[in-house]
Amino acid sequence: MRILVTGGAGFIGTNFVFHTLRAHPRDEVTVLDALTYAGNLENLKPLEGHPRFTFAKGDVCDRGVVETLIRGSDAVVHFAAESHVDRSIADASAFVRTNILGTQTLLDACRRNANVRFHHVSTDEVFGSLGPKGLFNESSPYDPRSPYSASKAAADHLVRAAWHTHRLPVTISNTSNNYGPFCFPEKLIPLFITNLLEGKKVPLYGDGMNIRDWIHVEDHCRGIDLALRHGTLGETYCFGGRNERTNAELTEIILFEMGFGKEMILPVTDRPGHDRRYAIDSAKAERTLGWHPEVPFIVGIRKTIAWYVANRPWWERIKSGAYREYYEKQYGAGGVTRPQDPRT
Ligand code: NAD
Ligand code: TYD
Repeated sequence: MRILVTGGAGFIGTNFVFHTLRAHPRDEVTVLDALTYAGNLENLKPLEGHPRFTFAKGDVCDRGVVETLIRGSDAVVHFAAESHVDRSIADASAFVRTNILGTQTLLDACRRNANVRFHHVSTDEVFGSLGPKGLFNESSPYDPRSPYSASKAAADHLVRAAWHTHRLPVTISNTSNNYGPFCFPEKLIPLFITNLLEGKKVPLYGDGMNIRDWIHVEDHCRGIDLALRHGTLGETYCFGGRNERTNAELTEIILFEMGFGKEMILPVTDRPGHDRRYAIDSAKAERTLGWHPEVPFIVGIRKTIAWYVANRPWWERIKSGAYREYYEKQYGAGGVTRPQDPRT
């Protein structure tokens, strides 16, 4: 199979590219990535000269580039997106453009090149926020609450509309919070690990009682691979880690594993509109695809910490570059303050 991977220089895309080339020795992978602040060509450096790998720098909103690349592909796995909730709260424009218009641009090109299989990678955040009980599944109503999740929800709807209207051969996956190597150090787990490695405190939002269901990125990549090859057209698959943690508990695990105490926690103002709880019921993927999360959380988190320890130059370059300006705007150069929630 010739697979076009959009956003393949980002966190999950990078892991998926390595997974595919390893698991499918005859497949060819082309990455289309605009190399935004979150895209990093260094991730794919080990693939330079690889006979089954090609990289194309370009924007998923660029019809010409998208059309050319899709013409030479059997399948598209669509990761490219603006992915960070806090950034979407500060400015949603790039989220609307890439996540919505970019997805439609890809769908249009697939439609003009019949039989190109399209797998859309989405998030559980489109379902909104759970109370203390219950789990999201494929039938959960959409209730996105952040500009990020609203833009992903719009994209999901467009993909489903392409199936219903044009019978475009699509599948969708909605997955919980990923962790693992190559995650940009603005998300909780890599931010906290790298802050601690720099001797800085870790900014815990609000009361720390928000819950996320953490899945190792390798488990997610296996799930997408199965949905792409064995999923039923037009169907959605939910992948979760069966691994709910409050942010406070997760923080304590990271602190403990890295040999720090709770004094390194910096309580900061809550994220505006902060969703309380996400958790996924993966029964459909388990039953129909034979998928199960395989990486035990404690093993995954230890491996992830070890990866950030071993790859210090990777994240130090990111944290000392343009990202530094963004981060210091939130926390100040010393990393201690955070602007007030505008609603308080
Ligand atoms: P990421 O921010 O690490 O990577 C996004 C990649 O997309 C980057 O390489 C970036 O350069 C590229 N990109 C952005 N705009 C582009 C454009 N206009 N054209 C081409 N490329 C562009 O994101 P991630 O965490 O790897 O997430 C990948 C996908 O998975 C996203 O669609 C996200 O919504 C979804 N998802 C993420 C998580 C998670 O926990 N990270 C969970 C569920 C679903
Ligand atoms: P994040 O990694 O940004 O993922 P998402 O918002 O998509 O779930 O955040 C995970 C959780 O951690 C979320 O409840 C917000 C919280 N959080 C903090 O407490 N401090 C931080 O510095 C960050 C980035 C997130």
